[in-house]
Amino acid sequence: MNEKGYEKQGQVLNGKNNTEKSQKIDQEKSRKSAKGVFITGTGTDMGKTYVAGLILKKLHQSGISSAYYKAAMSGNERRDDGSLIPGDAVMVKEMSGIPQPLEEMCPYIYENAVSPHLASQMEGNPVAMEQVKKGFETVCAGYSYVTMEGSGGILCPICCEGNELWLEDIIIACGLGCVVVADAGRFGFVRLQWFSEGEGFDSAMAFSDSGELFEELWRIWYEHEVLTPVLGTPLAELDYDEIFQTLSKDRQEEITEKKKYFFARCKDAFR
Ligand SMILES: Nc1ncnc2c1ncn2[C@@H]1O[C@H](COP(=O)(O)OP(=O)(O)OP(=O)(O)O)[C@@H](O)[C@H]1O
Ligand SMILES: [Mg+2]
Repeated sequence: MNEKGYEKQGQVLNGKNNTEKSQKIDQEKSRKSAKGVFITGTGTDMGKTYVAGLILKKLHQSGISSAYYKAAMSGNERRDDGSLIPGDAVMVKEMSGIPQPLEEMCPYIYENAVSPHLASQMEGNPVAMEQVKKGFETVCAGYSYVTMEGSGGILCPICCEGNELWLEDIIIACGLGCVVVADAGRFGFVRLQWFSEGEGFDSAMAFSDSGELFEELWRIWYEHEVLTPVLGTPLAELDYDEIFQTLSKDRQEEITEKKKYFFARCKDAFR
């Protein structure tokens, strides 16, 4: 996460422009007719396309007319005629069997495997919100359910040339609820925070030090494992170390080993 990302997240968290954003959401909601979901992830290569493909496969098998949509796709190969193959769209179509034409699935396709704002600086054709919304409205009008995929992670710059655009702006404009794809195997655990349209995340936390992040995640896990079971009992009045001392030796050992295990997983992930 870069400094820019924090600033952007901060704007949302501080609630600036919330009224304006809520109005925009209402407008968008009344305009579209299809139901839908937005698939984002904790980073690139997390499995967003894979999850979108599975959702669409299930919908298609259930007889629900469904569409895939992604505003901007990077890292695509070329056909012999030089045109770009929308890789994610091809994968989703093959996985799900939906009949939707590839041409409807993504208005912006880039060759270089970098975020859309960089790809458009290299290749031209910067993303314009109007075009994204036009394509989205077309699929909403033609299908009963739309599964939309985000580019990169949650904080992804989509366009910077003249008209700054972030993934979050697109999610809000399309008025969709989010599924966040996270690789729990990478860190051993995942922390979820509630996100509401127009409101952002319920609290802001930024870590520049992986050790601090680890301690914070450990504190949450420990609280869940050690404090939650004693809530409503006199033990809940004790501090964490005192509660720990009341546990059996086996349980204490199990918890200590768990911390070592999580720590080793984190070290692997940051290596
Ligand atoms: N649950 C899973 N089981 C097996 N393979 C998976 C799973 N999730 C993802 N993959 C594989 O991992 C690779 C990356 O997944 P995917 O393309 O869905 O990531 P992504 O988040 O959409 O990436 P991008 O940011 O490039 O769009 C793919 O080869 C995919 O088949
Ligand atoms: Mg993808």
